[in-house]
Amino acid sequence: KLGSTLSITVVGASGDLAKKKIFPALFALYYEDCLPEDFTVFGYARTKLTDEELRNTRVIVEKPFGRDSESSGGLTRSLKQYLREDQIFRIDHYLGRELVENLSVLRFSNLVFEPLWSRNYIRNVQFIFSEDFGTEGRGGYFDNYGIIRDIMQNHLLQILALFAMETPVSLDAEDIRNEKVKVLRSMQPLLLENVIVGQYKGHNKGSKSYPAYTDDPTVPKGSLTPTFAAAALFINNARWDGVPFLMKAVKALHTKRAEIRVQFRHVPGNLYKRNFGTDLDKATNELVLRLQPGEAIYVKINNKVPGLGMRLDRSDLNLLYRSRYPTEIPDAYERLVLDAIEGERRLFIRSDELDAAWALFTPLLKELEEKKIVPELYPYGSRGPVGAHYLAAKHNVRWGDLSGEDS
Ligand code: BG6
Repeated sequence: KLGSTLSITVVGASGDLAKKKIFPALFALYYEDCLPEDFTVFGYARTKLTDEELRNTRVIVEKPFGRDSESSGGLTRSLKQYLREDQIFRIDHYLGRELVENLSVLRFSNLVFEPLWSRNYIRNVQFIFSEDFGTEGRGGYFDNYGIIRDIMQNHLLQILALFAMETPVSLDAEDIRNEKVKVLRSMQPLLLENVIVGQYKGHNKGSKSYPAYTDDPTVPKGSLTPTFAAAALFINNARWDGVPFLMKAVKALHTKRAEIRVQFRHVPGNLYKRNFGTDLDKATNELVLRLQPGEAIYVKINNKVPGLGMRLDRSDLNLLYRSRYPTEIPDAYERLVLDAIEGERRLFIRSDELDAAWALFTPLLKELEEKKIVPELYPYGSRGPVGAHYLAAKHNVRWGDLSGEDS
């Protein structure tokens, strides 16, 4: 620790170097307790700046960012009365997950993936989030929002945008967010007929009984708020035309899981067709990014079973994080808070992204609420409403493995 007082004068205090390096470094030194208690930083610059304008004010905002386009717009307008866009850090903690960060690395730094990343090779993409517990005491908040606002409109949609975006000009936050917002603005309106909603009901398993959503004392009786939703979305652009992007978000399922599944097309003129019987779907390749539990990336491939004769089975090329990287994976919030301190905006949601996300979901949410659509009930701890399978079948899709049989 340095002596008792210190004055630092930053010449060029409004410049890029000061913003990107000098001030963050000073902050890091302060944070690590390397500066004396009594220290002053003077800034000198040719640009005319008030004291207020110079300061590194950043505000981290946690969701809910409103509950529809209108309320979210209101919230953004109030924030913008006091803050500039680059001072607003809207957190979506799924963007801070290790595997979500890795999505772009996987795609843009490996030749084997990017050329396949389009309607030419990909049949469908699935974004699946499930929890094996209900709202448990959070019903008061949850009932006003429901699973579509709680998980789909933010976490799953953000991952979808990252997944589907074009190659950004650079890794700069604005370049990445420009590409994400293009995806969001290219999405087809979300139709009620492409959405299934459900709600968990009470269930007895052996001696244990599990509550219904409406048993939560903070949930109004007869609530129609969905705790399950599945949706088929489409992106109207050259890369993704006609490819179903399926989302599933659910509370109180039999398993807790978050994953991205990419199902590829059939191999044209497959020489080994007869080894798969009549069900060629069993032969399609699938790339899975498991966000949790147990981060993993694996590709389902067809492989010859060793031995005489020609028998094929499905195997995994498997990158299991805990075996390959036995280090602690930082928590999403840890990464995001550090990014906010450093002024790194790449993983935060810009106002126009948020507007586009609400523009996609608001009409659907209004229709669900105005028409008082009754959710399909499913038992707590089950595999969820059967309607989700009809929705997938309508788009010629099978949900990927949720059985836990996958590695
Ligand atoms: C939050 C939702 O954003 O994400 C919760 O409001 C949900 O309902 C949570 O439980 C899931 O986050 P994680 O990190 O536990 O998967």
